[in-house]
Amino acid sequence: MKKTVGIIGAGTMGGGIAQVAALAGFDVLLHDVSGDALKASMERIKGDLRKSMQTGRATASDATGALTRIRPRREFNDLGAADVVIEAAVEDLEVKKEIFRALDQIVAPRAILATNTSSLSITSIGSLTKTPESVVGMHFFNPPAQMKLVEIVRGSQTSDETVRTVYEMALAMGKTPVFCSDTPGFIVNRVARPFYGEALRLLGEGTATAEQIDRIVRLSGGFRMGPFELMDMIGIDVNYAVTKSVYEQFFHEPRFRPHPIQRRMVEAGTLGRKTGLGFYRYE
Ligand SMILES: NC(=O)c1ccc[n+]([C@@H]2O[C@H](COP(=O)([O-])OP(=O)(O)OC[C@H]3O[C@@H](n4cnc5c(N)ncnc54)[C@H](O)[C@@H]3O)[C@@H](O)[C@H]2O)c1
Repeated sequence: MKKTVGIIGAGTMGGGIAQVAALAGFDVLLHDVSGDALKASMERIKGDLRKSMQTGRATASDATGALTRIRPRREFNDLGAADVVIEAAVEDLEVKKEIFRALDQIVAPRAILATNTSSLSITSIGSLTKTPESVVGMHFFNPPAQMKLVEIVRGSQTSDETVRTVYEMALAMGKTPVFCSDTPGFIVNRVARPFYGEALRLLGEGTATAEQIDRIVRLSGGFRMGPFELMDMIGIDVNYAVTKSVYEQFFHEPRFRPHPIQRRMVEAGTLGRKTGLGFYRYE
């Protein structure tokens, strides 16, 4: 079993994946370009582990053990010691390509390079490395500590061994891995596009408010959250980037078209829970 996991990006997903991996016994190197993001992430992880202890989801020794296994790292080159790297930086193909190009220079030849991308092409990201057979999608869901599903996405050159290794890692983290091919948005984000898109169109047309739509979806469909609550949790910027990426990769297929409301909110910096204001206000 691979032992040291490097994580790139200490935001909503990277921090959560670090926590899950450390609780499962992996040594974690958590990297972010922003020192503030790294600090905030460690605080969030500490707070969440404390809550897990209080609610009995983790024992005190598991939680303290996990915390000692996460080492925050500002220096990108420190990731060279990782057996598996999971990239969870922003949903931007150019940024991810740059990261994988740089990773390729520092990791051991047999290291596995995974990306937590929600929608981008694993094949395209892998093509920039000397070892595209070691590049794979490992798509966790938000919040990683609670969501069981992990989509394991196979690029056109990903090897069986790589797929098997990350599948076993996901199992070791207590997750339910599912396989899927390298198609824009994979399974869940593909199915979810019309969920958000139609809700935004209803809102834009003035048919109903965000609160009404969320409530009706919860009541009628048994969903735990409505589309606007979910977009606020994901981050409006992240959701908009994923929608744009799926739309572009499907050659501007109209049914995947992003909505101007999303763009306006990104321009305004009202990004949901993480900024305190999205479709709802948060204290
Ligand atoms: N938010 C979700 O619900 C969700 C769910 C599943 C997958 N994802 C995917 O996970 C990835 C991260 O999303 P997030 O919501 O955690 O984003 P986020 O904005 O919360 O965090 C991204 C972090 O990456 C850092 N970063 C940016 N460029 C970097 C670089 N070059 N090197 C190192 N760090 C860098 C930023 O400083 C930030 O801390 C995206 O690809 C997203 O599509 C998000």
